[in-house]
Amino acid sequence: MEIVSNTHEVPSSDTSFTDTVTQLPGKLSNLLKETLTNVKGLGLSAKKEANTQTNNHALPYISASLKHITLETHDTKSYFFRSEIPLSTHKAGAHINIAFDANGETVKRTYTLSSSPKDSTEFSITVKRVNEGLASNWLFENLSAGDKIQVSQPQGHFVLPYQPAGKILMLSAGSGITPLMSMIRYLSETGNRSDIVFLNYSQTPNDIIFHDELNALTSKQANVKAHFVVEREASADTAHKGRINKKQLSEIVPDVLDREIYLCGPQPFMKAAVSILDKLKFNPSQLHLENFTADLSAATQLGYSAELSFASLESSIQSNPSNTILEEAEAAGLTPAAACRIGICRTCRCKKTSGTTVNLMTGEESSAEGDYILPCVSVAKTATSVEL
Ligand code: FES
Repeated sequence: MEIVSNTHEVPSSDTSFTDTVTQLPGKLSNLLKETLTNVKGLGLSAKKEANTQTNNHALPYISASLKHITLETHDTKSYFFRSEIPLSTHKAGAHINIAFDANGETVKRTYTLSSSPKDSTEFSITVKRVNEGLASNWLFENLSAGDKIQVSQPQGHFVLPYQPAGKILMLSAGSGITPLMSMIRYLSETGNRSDIVFLNYSQTPNDIIFHDELNALTSKQANVKAHFVVEREASADTAHKGRINKKQLSEIVPDVLDREIYLCGPQPFMKAAVSILDKLKFNPSQLHLENFTADLSAATQLGYSAELSFASLESSIQSNPSNTILEEAEAAGLTPAAACRIGICRTCRCKKTSGTTVNLMTGEESSAEGDYILPCVSVAKTATSVEL
């Protein structure tokens, strides 16, 4: 999830998690599709709401200044901010949009908060550098204490209940650890003593984000167990090696079926984890997951090429089958508002005045005049006009 390495700079993706879920055998498939849809905030209720709001309701931004930076690993930093006005009340796991000027251009991205929601004026994001990631690289190399950025209020559906009871498994890979770190920090700070297993997969021990903090937490709290699995260079601290698999998961978490699972990571990891849980006959109602990447390759598969008209352009264009409406608008020289670019934040939301469009994330068609669509994840099926 460009909802971002899950630090989440939302990178483009290779495969569709939704497709994977669809291909799963057994009842977990259907139930997981529903879970995934709800978690991504693109479910029926969200879509219904989307049709009643306007793009003017995109979340307002507030100013925040950088207090300090922590180098978490060789390629990952945490940025600690203080906002001028408090963030709205939110739960652990929420994400924010940030906007900053880089090389003369305003860049917007969506990142999960890594801090506990307990403090509403100081918060952190933790960002891993992504190859060719404009935002993550610029932040890593340029942002320094005192700099100001703009941030939206927190939002998102991949969040922890205020005080969960029962057993919990926090399952992550790479920088997908970020929202789970927010959750476990919050539970620790508020004295929650649920039985928590924190299981993280990384490439090498040097890539484990928050390694020391998690070890310190487990030494203080008997109710928290942390396990780290690496693909290579396993050390005494990371006794487990390899990629996630059914045998290993069952050994590390023998009571996995009894736990509420919070799952976050890159798509291949998410796919593997869901497949394993399906084989274990895990109850999907106990699964909560965050998918920070969007597979927009469906645009190419659909192959739609239609006439596209933008309100601020005099002439129409013929859309490229592989491009979303947002990409076409940008290619035409427009600069529409956009942040996550994967259909989560609604920053790009705009009115469609005519035509039929397809939402690549949900598969839903919009044919009614006046519908509001998310152009970052939509393609035009027939001649379409949008208010961009
Ligand atoms: S840019 Fe976030 S929903 Fe389109």
